[in-house]
Amino acid sequence: MSLTCFAPFLFLSFILGCAARPFYPLPSKMSNQNRQPMQTSRPYNIAHRGSNGEIPEETAAAYMRAIEEGADFIETDILSSKDGVLICFHDVILDLTTDVANHKEFANRKRTYNVQGFNVTGFFSVDFTLKELKKLRVKQRYNFRDQQYNGKFSIITFEEFISIALDAPRVVGIYPEIKNPVLINQHVKWPNGKRFEDKFVETLRKYGYKGSYMSKDWLEKPIFIQSFAPTSLVYISNLTNSPKIFLIDDVTMPTQDTNQVCPEFTL
Ligand SMILES: *[C@@H]1O[C@H](CO)[C@@H](O)[C@H](O)[C@H]1NC(C)=O
Ligand SMILES: *[C@@H]1O[C@H](CO)[C@@H](O)[C@H](O)[C@H]1NC(C)=O
Repeated sequence: MSLTCFAPFLFLSFILGCAARPFYPLPSKMSNQNRQPMQTSRPYNIAHRGSNGEIPEETAAAYMRAIEEGADFIETDILSSKDGVLICFHDVILDLTTDVANHKEFANRKRTYNVQGFNVTGFFSVDFTLKELKKLRVKQRYNFRDQQYNGKFSIITFEEFISIALDAPRVVGIYPEIKNPVLINQHVKWPNGKRFEDKFVETLRKYGYKGSYMSKDWLEKPIFIQSFAPTSLVYISNLTNSPKIFLIDDVTMPTQDTNQVCPEFTL
């Protein structure tokens, strides 16, 4: 989202306020009644990774800022910690957008894994418990962005992300992506043979996300589920009737699970 005018002092106290904000215990305490409904008369304004031009991506502060700027939906990427907690983070490795390299205690965690046919080397979120991930601080991905909030905010969980949407002063939807499900299901095991996708849908159910597009339930808690992995979307379509978006990259780029390129799949 782009930078708009705001009172710098108020904004700063807002940011510091959310850095100190105790996210637990969950769920959100906000009553769902009487909130301004989501607008449905014009295209949705979706805050991709939060207001990440201003504040490091997928942090609580980036999402709260996006809501303040008028986002209809906040968008995120769901991965998992080693101990099976779903987190909001874009890359399978922590290297580019956190300070993991400065943590000597984690120096021996670097690994090389095959990710969708490519050997990727780095510090993988699936090798860190949530407690360890919470020690890291997020930083901007690109040098041309505002660097002043680097090192100030931690990685958040999927539940914390949901609580930010539910705590908003008006109805704000969520737009989570099931990210790299093959890698996650290879490296993370949940009790009773549950898969990443089961855990994902379970979390949505816990907070009341359900219903087809524009249904009463959907309008109260709007959601779009997105993925580059068609198998995951088919699997979860058995579990929830929330709307799903199949993402297609460049037409030569394979899907995240079936390794098909665009002309090879029909939906
Ligand atoms: C990835 O690394 C393995 C083990 O070193 C190697 O056998 C394989 O050819 C590599 N794959 C690619 C796509 O580079
Ligand atoms: C959907 O659920 C049914 C009943 O549990 C199961 O038999 C079927 O294999 C599932 N389909 C997919 C695509 O997971």
